[in-house]
Amino acid sequence: DWTMGAYREEMIAKIREQVGDKKVICALSGGVDSSVTGILLHEAIGDQLTCVFVDHGLLRLGEAEQVVNMFRENYNLNLIHADESDLFLGALEGVSDPEVKRKTIGKLFIDVFQKYADQIEGAEFLAQGTLYPDVIESVSFSGGPSVTIKSHHNVGGLPEKMGLKLVEPLRELFKDEVRALGHELGLPASFIGRHPFPGPGLAIRCPGEITREKLDILRKADAVYIDQIRKHGLYDEIWQAFAAILPMRTVGVMGDGRTYDYALALRAVTSVDGMTADYYPFTHEFLSETSTRIINEVKGVNRVFYDCTSKPPGTIELE
Ligand code: XMP
Repeated sequence: DWTMGAYREEMIAKIREQVGDKKVICALSGGVDSSVTGILLHEAIGDQLTCVFVDHGLLRLGEAEQVVNMFRENYNLNLIHADESDLFLGALEGVSDPEVKRKTIGKLFIDVFQKYADQIEGAEFLAQGTLYPDVIESVSFSGGPSVTIKSHHNVGGLPEKMGLKLVEPLRELFKDEVRALGHELGLPASFIGRHPFPGPGLAIRCPGEITREKLDILRKADAVYIDQIRKHGLYDEIWQAFAAILPMRTVGVMGDGRTYDYALALRAVTSVDGMTADYYPFTHEFLSETSTRIINEVKGVNRVFYDCTSKPPGTIELE
């Protein structure tokens, strides 16, 4: 009789057999796949595993702390929190081309990961959260390489370059099975059900040049938007929702004064696999309440647009 519990035991046995007494490193992105991979490896080999969480400074409000705390509190695994935001944001200064952003982030991610991995003496394996669809290459992002060490189209060549062998315990699983396994491993439901988040993070939600000021505004606005979605009980109906900060300021009025602040785009889509998507039909009440909240609560924003483009012809992200 097939159950996730039995499967979990089987995978743990396989990992032990493959790894023996050698050391393994694993990049945690905060996403479900890498988290399940890390936790599974930890169950199998305990202290032989070291996880590295690379913080590129392009995460959402409070996200780095949330991920690190979740792992430190619930799982007693070796975790390095690599705060490299200055490095990434420095390299992205003046960059506005979406592909150059992705390449810059992807390349730095490899450098940073390698730097931390080099400190772990005797590591012979790299664990990756590759899923079955990655294996059969049915998933291809329009967006080019990402910073997750998930699949060949993301940071291909890394294990070879580092001379590491791969451990890919999720290779036979689909996303919903990974979620079930995550549940089995005790990952909180709120964590398992999180919307997908792209490897390059907020960089591709900030069309044009990325500045710390814009990122700061974007983080706050996105948090208000997601809070609204949760309060209205819509989070699980939506595949992905986020705010993007547009590369323009517009004129507004507030009190007796004129404002000249950033405009935001709100995005929400339903989808099965991210390959095609429909924009989410929020009510006008929801949209006006959200717009009002964002403008009142987030300094630096005076206009909110709702993106009613489906995919195709749009992509889910703005870049
Ligand atoms: P698009 O914008 O191509 O997004 O319609 C489809 C899905 O892929 C995610 N996405 C990325 N994920 N690296 C990633 O890891 C990337 O460069 C990237 N670009 C898009 C996007 O968030 C959506 O879920």
